[in-house]
Amino acid sequence: MREIAEQLVQHRRGNPTEKRDLLSAKVNGKDPKTGELMPDAPIAANMITSLVAGHETTSGLLSFAMLNLRRNLETYSKAQQEVDKVTGRRKMAVEHMKSLIYINAVLRETLRLMPTIPAFSRSIRNDNPNNVHYYIRHRQRACQVRSRPIHTSFGGGARGLSIMMFGAGTGMAPFRGFIQERAIQIAAGRKLAPALMFMGCRSSVRDRLYAEQIVEWVKAGAVDVRHAFSQEPEESRGCKRIQDRLLEEKEDVLRT
Ligand code: HEM
Repeated sequence: MREIAEQLVQHRRGNPTEKRDLLSAKVNGKDPKTGELMPDAPIAANMITSLVAGHETTSGLLSFAMLNLRRNLETYSKAQQEVDKVTGRRKMAVEHMKSLIYINAVLRETLRLMPTIPAFSRSIRNDNPNNVHYYIRHRQRACQVRSRPIHTSFGGGARGLSIMMFGAGTGMAPFRGFIQERAIQIAAGRKLAPALMFMGCRSSVRDRLYAEQIVEWVKAGAVDVRHAFSQEPEESRGCKRIQDRLLEEKEDVLRT
């Protein structure tokens, strides 16, 4: 594949064209800072990535999205109305993408139900005999994340469901997507069930990840957050760990 891709790049270099396609953009595009052109090898590698990583994923997503829309005609009609409203009679352009909020939700919901990448895993590159405590061998799977939908109906299923999130340290990062989604829905006038996030870190200042963004989301009602600062428990109701805070807030937890 690499050979074929490199031949295609060289062919395009030898036969310049007015065509404004992705290959021309890569072959002629210059780094805005250094003014350098992109060398052939990374262009060829990009072509392979687009084919392997970017083809089945996007085409699968679009096919499943169309299937879901055909099965849910009310949603289909709303998606059409949004396109009519945003583009009118004009040709669809990149600038329109950010205004296609409903369609974005349709795509995300499709990825939730029918993920075109349903799992990914991590393995160890080299054996490390010095690590005697946690010895995972070369190529042995160290971690696998799978996605499995809890609610299997398309759209709306999870709207009335309360969410509890437990993020120890950086573990809270993936929840940002959920919370952002909720903030968008609330801004669009939807009523959502409550979401409560327990978040642990060392300090209320030094390692409180995404603090500003989370404050905004709390203000918007997208989430309610309870911290546990292991080095400043006085700032988190005397709780050093999220499990302590969970116990401390048990009434709120039960209510949520
Ligand atoms: C619906 C469309 C797509 C989905 C659901 C999707 C999903 C994913 C997921 C889950 C990963 C992480 C895999 C892992 O860490 O093991 C990933 C990585 C990646 N994807 Fe996609 N992808 C999509 C479209 C694309 C497209 C269009 C391209 C490029 C043309 C692309 C290029 C890549 C690359 C280069 C990585 C590796 C990033 C890295 O490890 O630094 N993907 N994608």
